[in-house]
Amino acid sequence: MSGNATESTAQPNPHAVTEPGHAVRRATASEHAAVEFRSVTKVFKAGRQSHTALDDIDLRIERGEIFGVIGYSGAGKSTLVRLINALEQPTSGTVLISGDPITGVPESRVRQLRRDIGMVFQQFNLFRSRTAAGNIEYPLKVAGWSRARRKARVAELLEFVGLADKARSYPDQLSGGQKQRVGIARALATSPALLLADEATSALDPETTGEVLRLLKKVNRELGVTIVVITHEMDVIRAVADRVAVLAEGRIVELARTFDVFAAPRAAPTRSFVETVLHNRPNPEELQRLGAKHPGRLVTVDIDDERGIGTALATAAQAGVTVEIVYGGVSTLQDKTFGSLTLALDGAAEAVDRVAGVLAGSPAADERRSA
Ligand SMILES: Nc1ncnc2c1ncn2[C@@H]1O[C@H](COP(=O)(O)OP(=O)(O)O)[C@@H](O)[C@H]1O
Ligand SMILES: [Mg+2]
Repeated sequence: MSGNATESTAQPNPHAVTEPGHAVRRATASEHAAVEFRSVTKVFKAGRQSHTALDDIDLRIERGEIFGVIGYSGAGKSTLVRLINALEQPTSGTVLISGDPITGVPESRVRQLRRDIGMVFQQFNLFRSRTAAGNIEYPLKVAGWSRARRKARVAELLEFVGLADKARSYPDQLSGGQKQRVGIARALATSPALLLADEATSALDPETTGEVLRLLKKVNRELGVTIVVITHEMDVIRAVADRVAVLAEGRIVELARTFDVFAAPRAAPTRSFVETVLHNRPNPEELQRLGAKHPGRLVTVDIDDERGIGTALATAAQAGVTVEIVYGGVSTLQDKTFGSLTLALDGAAEAVDRVAGVLAGSPAADERRSA
């Protein structure tokens, strides 16, 4: 498999200028990707052992998007983030921030570029001895802001993250979600164009996770900040990511718009991530149990905006076939319908064949005879 990601949706990029025999070229400086990886490999060496954490990664994260990176533990996610803010140097290849290399350049240049990058951590990394306001103020002090400007900015940020009443609270007096909101406000203090969130919700319960994810979405939509969300949870991707890259053993095995990944996952790791959230297709054991319980034939069909079961139900009614919905779920993602339903069809063999045929007319229909 190649380290190069392929889009599963053909999305013409209006900015791309393709020349025969050449890679895609950027047209002008204003059209640089927020983050770009060019053939980036990272090998960690420990004595005689070496481990390839990232293997020939090519990746563009566009300005203004929420880009998700999902992978199992050890896939290379944190290494990828640490290359974006140059906490790690690649073994080979280049990482660019808005078109400027952040790798292979002097430390002073790295510091300059890093000013435009905010970072949110799984364990919040707040100063326990400082209040919420004090934590948010810290990067402004480092950046040399005057006291008056700092005060106004902190108040604005506290308001933005919904913690205006917690300015004087210390981290120990805040819930996990509140702590992470302080972490986000601190990361945004100097108005970076890019925000990196490495497992930012992994220490939080599901409800609080939702609250933090809604805030990240607000940061993206209202402030136009590009966000890279690193996670091992598909629910997080589903909630916020416009596009997602699936990382496995240091390679990008799939990269597509989030909807497309959920509707039609391709790579094996992607399919297992999607299954962790959807639970809308019965596994083989469940299928066997359903078969034992329901007479007739079981048919599983994918549902989306174009494909429903209306026609099949009408055919069934005419042909005297009873249809029972025995498994599945239909929901929406990014305002589009998708899901899967498993139906038990019972009636005369010929009539059942006809209804199954109508359902099979949808390319994704997947028929299995009951046991
Ligand atoms: N500083 C390091 N030295 C040696 N190996 C490392 C170092 N950092 C990460 N690795 C290895 O690289 C691989 C990817 O790690 P990481 O990027 O932290 O994965 P993830 O964040 O997806 O769990 C792992 O096998 C890890 O052990
Ligand atoms: Mg990690």
